Amino acid sequence: MRAVWYERNGAARDVLVVGEMPDPEPGLGEVRVRLKASGVNPADTYWRAGTNAAIAHPRVIPNSDGAGLVDKVGPGVSAALVGKRVWLYNGQRGGRAFGTAAEYITLSADLVTVLPDGVSFAEGATLGIPCMTAHCCLLAAGPVQGRTVLVTGGAGAVGHYAVQLAKWAGARVIATVSSEDKAEKARAGGADAVIDYKREDVAVRVMAITDGAGVDHAVEVDAGGNLAATLACVRDNGSIAAYASAGAREPTVPIYALIRRNLTFQGVYLATHPHAARKRAQTDITAWLTSGRRMLPVAARFTLEETAAAHELVEQGGKAGTVVVEP
Ligand SMILES: NC(=O)c1ccc[n+]([C@@H]2O[C@H](COP(=O)([O-])OP(=O)(O)OC[C@H]3O[C@@H](n4cnc5c(N)ncnc54)[C@H](OP(=O)(O)O)[C@@H]3O)[C@@H](O)[C@H]2O)c1
Repeated sequence: MRAVWYERNGAARDVLVVGEMPDPEPGLGEVRVRLKASGVNPADTYWRAGTNAAIAHPRVIPNSDGAGLVDKVGPGVSAALVGKRVWLYNGQRGGRAFGTAAEYITLSADLVTVLPDGVSFAEGATLGIPCMTAHCCLLAAGPVQGRTVLVTGGAGAVGHYAVQLAKWAGARVIATVSSEDKAEKARAGGADAVIDYKREDVAVRVMAITDGAGVDHAVEVDAGGNLAATLACVRDNGSIAAYASAGAREPTVPIYALIRRNLTFQGVYLATHPHAARKRAQTDITAWLTSGRRMLPVAARFTLEETAAAHELVEQGGKAGTVVVEP
């Protein structure tokens, strides 16, 4: 098969190699997917660059998410899956070296989900890390129906899915953004109120929007950078689920404020999030996708040979959705 790989950490153009590798064969409990699209997420570039940790395998095929057709199944997997259009996550995570920047991947059948009709492979490749993380953060402290949810970065890849899923789940949604374009996107995804976090006082605006009550739950893109503002937005006994913290990687947390206010602060990392929550996310995402209106933003499309350019675009920042490579 054609594949892209790296054998050392470094800049995309320096370490990503395009070449031929043997076609993988599905093992016990596995499916083989003929990949049509591979999603590039920020963490795929961190792992390649060595920002998260040094390379842990002799060779790594990057990119964790993807979509394609099941063309073979291993022992213990129903043959009914053969020919199904699927999306997948955790392709290059949890100890797995070979991700989705290739023509084929083999992985546990548990990690693939049937892609509903009308959702393209490129769109399917945006669901893994962004949509699964959004779901896991949104429901980290329980159901949100009838509750008010704050989504910071509500036009980002994860944040926009959090806005859409929260609305679908019956929550009132307040999103923060940094431009009018992003405000439009958040509103189109279902946000009931939008705050420009660079020009407005987020806590003051949230309190005004909620008549002084605060939000029940927050899905947080910058735990450290937004800590003071988000704590001031969440009501007593409320919760914050954070999936990133670029603004301050090791913030000082006012722990007694959390204790006295009965606040729950949860970190969410999709790759190792509890299995039951990830299964629930797969099921709910299917229900959401088939429920009608949804936006699955593909930020840009590249060929497999252009995987280095796809990584560079993600590293530049400012992508609007998920960057996709099409093997
Ligand atoms: N824990 C996990 O399992 C997990 C899963 C997925 C992603 N992540 C991480 O989450 C981060 C975002 O990923 P992504 O793919 O969603 O990126 P993205 O598409 O670039 O979206 C990030 C969004 O957050 C906004 N933003 C940045 N700082 C903000 C702040 N302080 N307050 C409010 N909004 C802010 C950005 O908008 P502006 O720049 O215009 O403000 C942008 O819209 C990355 O670091 C990624 O590695 C973690």
